[in-house]
Amino acid sequence: MEYIKSKDIYLLMRDILKLINPTLMEHGSRVAYIVYKMLQEEEKYEEFELADIVMIATMHDIGAYKTERNRINDMLQYETRDSMAHSIYGYLFFKYLSPEPDLSKVIMYHCRDYEKLQTVDYAYKDVAAYINIAEKIDIYSNTMGAQFDPRMFQKQAGTKLSAAGLDRFYQCDAKYNMLEKLKNDAYKAELDEIAEYMIFSNENKKKFLDMLIYCLGFVREGMVLDTVTTICICEEIASRLFLPDHEREMIYYAALVHDLGMIAISQDIVMAPRKLKPEEIKHVRTHVGIAQEKLEHRMDADIVSIAMAHHERGDMSGYPKRLGEQKISIQQGVLQVADVVSALVNKRSYREAASKQQVLRFLNEEAAKKRFKRQIVTVLSDSYDEIMERVKQETANILKMYQTLNMQYQQVSKKYKI
Ligand SMILES: [Fe+2]
Ligand SMILES: [Fe+2]
Ligand SMILES: [Fe+2]
Repeated sequence: MEYIKSKDIYLLMRDILKLINPTLMEHGSRVAYIVYKMLQEEEKYEEFELADIVMIATMHDIGAYKTERNRINDMLQYETRDSMAHSIYGYLFFKYLSPEPDLSKVIMYHCRDYEKLQTVDYAYKDVAAYINIAEKIDIYSNTMGAQFDPRMFQKQAGTKLSAAGLDRFYQCDAKYNMLEKLKNDAYKAELDEIAEYMIFSNENKKKFLDMLIYCLGFVREGMVLDTVTTICICEEIASRLFLPDHEREMIYYAALVHDLGMIAISQDIVMAPRKLKPEEIKHVRTHVGIAQEKLEHRMDADIVSIAMAHHERGDMSGYPKRLGEQKISIQQGVLQVADVVSALVNKRSYREAASKQQVLRFLNEEAAKKRFKRQIVTVLSDSYDEIMERVKQETANILKMYQTLNMQYQQVSKKYKI
């Protein structure tokens, strides 16, 4: 069964990263459009290959979400002067987490001077060279406004930028009016058209969606851990309830996306080591609606409905719909319990991790108030140690992956003296 189309994975990733910083993501889309038109003109790649390139070109600055967190809007600085950090982190992020490791070096090389790039042996170096041209054109046209003339790059032809690439850009701009389309947003429809050619296998779709969890970490690393814990507890409960395979899969995806909206919530509030004020609680609660808006009409409706009910409670005290126990399905109930347990067992800035006794006592009290389904709480209580052992293994794997990524980042950074 198709839970989400390849194109919608691309659109979802764009939307979620836009929630963190719209300027950077829109720059990514504009760069992808320029590169796409330039490469299409050359007829070197098939449409489906171009679609993969569009995906990576859109995400070419993904590393900046991590490395340039504190100056994310100062693009001129990290895109044109000290560009190494975000290029390296983005490359490693894509290499380890995306299903496209071959293309990931495009990110590594996207800011490299053409003279140096030429000496590198890499099949997609033309793509990296085109991204370099496209991003410089986009950044300078945005900063200089009416003063901008793309011919100004001519003096860098053959040194910093590819001369053939620049010629290709000037030719394409004359033919397709690219700069004009970038200004009036007409490029967007064309870019989304090529996304129709994205064809990811089910396995690759899963990998891209998993990668989305790690994007949560750009805002707060704890969110990655929370989501992985929730997914893992869901899987363990669902298998012990003997739910059919397709339902277990639906719960898996629902758990994966359920808190994506948290990316839009102010971190000062999320991390506040105190009781939240009523208006702050209201703000936090919008995360459900925000995720719903991004997921609806893209992901399978049943998955979205499981995900969006994760704060509902059987006594109608939950949100956003105040569903009663009759209206809460078993799949929704599994995610509700898993989400709460994940929050309790992971440490917060304002409290320690809860003990087994505390978790079980809380769940039983909630079940007595009909907030959680008794059957689900019983399954979890009966196998608590076993389930938590699995969670421990899963989260250890994640932490290990993070360590490897950070270690490699440090090693490569040292090499380039960042
Ligand atoms: Fe960049
Ligand atoms: Fe860029
Ligand atoms: Fe939530």
